Amino acid sequence: MSVHQQPVHRQFESDPAGAVAEAIRGSMIDETPKQARIIADFPILAKPTSRGKRLVYLDSAASSQKPRAVIDALVHYYENDNANIHRGVYELAARATDQFEAARAKVARFVNAAHTEEIIWTRNTTEAINLVSFSWGLANLGPGDAILTTQLEHHSNLVPWQLLAAKTGAELRFIRADAQGVLVLDDLDTLLAGVKLVAITYVSNTIGSIAPLETIVPRAHAAGAVVLVDAAQSVPHMPVDVQALDVDFLAASGHKMCGPTGIGFLYGKRALLDAMPPFLTGGDMIKRVSYETTSYNELPWKFEAGTSNIADAIALGAAVDYLTEIGMDWVRDHERRLTAYALEQLRALEPRGLAVYGPRNAGDRAGVISFNLGDIHAHDLASILDIEGVCVRAGHHCTMPLMEKMGWPATARASFYLYNTEADVDALLEALNKAAEIFRLA
Ligand code: ALA
Repeated sequence: MSVHQQPVHRQFESDPAGAVAEAIRGSMIDETPKQARIIADFPILAKPTSRGKRLVYLDSAASSQKPRAVIDALVHYYENDNANIHRGVYELAARATDQFEAARAKVARFVNAAHTEEIIWTRNTTEAINLVSFSWGLANLGPGDAILTTQLEHHSNLVPWQLLAAKTGAELRFIRADAQGVLVLDDLDTLLAGVKLVAITYVSNTIGSIAPLETIVPRAHAAGAVVLVDAAQSVPHMPVDVQALDVDFLAASGHKMCGPTGIGFLYGKRALLDAMPPFLTGGDMIKRVSYETTSYNELPWKFEAGTSNIADAIALGAAVDYLTEIGMDWVRDHERRLTAYALEQLRALEPRGLAVYGPRNAGDRAGVISFNLGDIHAHDLASILDIEGVCVRAGHHCTMPLMEKMGWPATARASFYLYNTEADVDALLEALNKAAEIFRLA
């Protein structure tokens, strides 16, 4: 690794001695110029915490930080191009519309959709999954049908299917996960009998295990099922190609991939989306309305009732540009290296009672590490780490059934992204050692 130091331009009021600025410089010393440039792109990472510590942000699985390019895109839109879309004939409205639709095309290219109109804007992954459940699900499922999901799912990819099963009389089945959180596929063909929909997370938000979609998708199709993928934790972190995966629906959130909150998308194969009834109804999703009846707009607008989240969609387009320029292969490799480093370093804490969950091999997981330290409650642990400037999530991670199955009341979770470095892992370790001392563990 070449040595590269990025100047830290600001001297913070809360950091008169420059200790935090020095810590930020120190954290970059072992990084490549590319990593140092990425860190410098995220303004928040140069700001000390209220306790004067360097911010060590290890909660990107919950929400990522935003690069300057995305923040600028939001401000630029509101300062220069703000108007409603698809309605006004004046130049400003046309400019807003063009940028909004250009952002959709960027997302389509990012996941390699065959057609731009296969991308539907939603608020987030959750709304995208609910769209499929209410629209496709209610129209296509009935008694005698089955929905197959897994024991790893986030509530967002479980509760909608519980509701759909209850409404339609369909059966809800689960692919089991083993003690490491790896899906057990031995009885997959038996499970698939009578299944019309397979709803599966690509990457577990709780333990980071990666589902073998290349095995599951063809077998689901052979059984006559359509496949929906919860890609909230994969689209931001690895190259995802919807055509290569041959998935039918895929849902993701902008705020986990360097974009703003309040914007996400659903990818759906055109033939499926075309045949589906609308989810929400109102303005913009119509072609013609009389007092008695309505005909619907074409894709993608059939699914976008009301004024859309225009600015955030455009800023998500800027996030996609940013990630594309960095390169998603690089992002995946970087996180894989960092995860391997973290798994290795964390072993030093095993004698003090550290338990790490999920696959042991960094190649089998994304950059998500769930753990507990001795009998310290995960919330207490996260609070101690916070004092040291280290942000991790603690609790059930919106996967209560998985936690119960595994017998974990709660876990702390560190999750990595393109701006994290080995220095962040070292800071996590140091903070964990402090916690062990406070609680007098071994
Ligand atoms: N789904 C997000 C997480 O796992 C919020 O933290």
